[in-house]
Amino acid sequence: MDIKTYLKNKKNLVEQALEKNMPAVGGVLAPHVEAMRYSLFAGGKRVRPILCIAAAEALKIEPAPFMPIACAFECIHTYSLIHDDLPAMDNDDLRRGKPTCHKVFGEAEAILAGDGLLTYGFELLSLPCSAELGAEKKLRIINLVARAVGSQGMVGGQALDIASEGKDISFKTLRYLHSCKTGALITAAVQAGAVIGQATEQEFTALTTYGNNIGLAFQIKDDLLNVESTTEELGKAAGSDAEHDKATYPAFFGVEETRKKAADAVEQAIAALENFDNHSDPLRELAQYILYRTK
Ligand code: IPE
Ligand code: IPE
Ligand code: MG
Ligand code: MG
Repeated sequence: MDIKTYLKNKKNLVEQALEKNMPAVGGVLAPHVEAMRYSLFAGGKRVRPILCIAAAEALKIEPAPFMPIACAFECIHTYSLIHDDLPAMDNDDLRRGKPTCHKVFGEAEAILAGDGLLTYGFELLSLPCSAELGAEKKLRIINLVARAVGSQGMVGGQALDIASEGKDISFKTLRYLHSCKTGALITAAVQAGAVIGQATEQEFTALTTYGNNIGLAFQIKDDLLNVESTTEELGKAAGSDAEHDKATYPAFFGVEETRKKAADAVEQAIAALENFDNHSDPLRELAQYILYRTK
């Protein structure tokens, strides 16, 4: 299979579904909706919804009826980016190649755009989409996403990230921080695809191991790109981690060892798929893509 074509096709599907599922600008709330849409449609690789789709496809389920669930991951992810860029957090001016939400709309609007996207994500998760995905499975997805993005997951990871600036932390804490701030949502996207695909508990466990490993690898690669790439290529500030004395893998291990750690995690992710047939090839290729991506 050609992963480039796969990514392009799935990205198109996600863009169409986002357009269909997001509120349009208009009425008295137009400026608020505009701020949400500005960041959501600023670009972005759409990795999380694509992972959700690919996990369902690995279990031979046609994902079309479940696109609102896939879109929810992009809404929640975009919220996390808007808040991550705020002056009180990473204080970044550029995101997805454009001025950050708070630079264009002001801080109060950016905070609210994030709040709106987070909440809308859960609204999308709760929408009825197909008779095969009954209320119980829906609730399971909502529960796993809530746990992934709250204090035991993404928000907790962000709190640790901020608290660790300029501090010496252990490798165990660093790995936990990365797994929470970035890995948890990625894992949840894969798990949601598994629930959509009617996974057995064994398949769910294997896909969770896959998700945990690519989630960690994704943030390790983000750290590497921050050191090795340029602001122009990334569409966000390069070199900012060192500037803020962030707790990162390259700061802890150096670049060479960091590359090895990312490759190890991807290898473990792929190994977790050993009992899956060729329908899971996109998941295998996506894991590799996380390593060689340039932005
Ligand atoms: C960037 O995520 C922030 C992290 C959690 C590492 P992405 O690299 O997926 O950013 P977009 O969505 O493509 O802009
Ligand atoms: C982003 O982490 C994690 C979340 C947004 C939850 P970073 O702060 O390392 O990501 P970038 O480099 O700004 O995209
Ligand atoms: Mg950050
Ligand atoms: Mg940041």
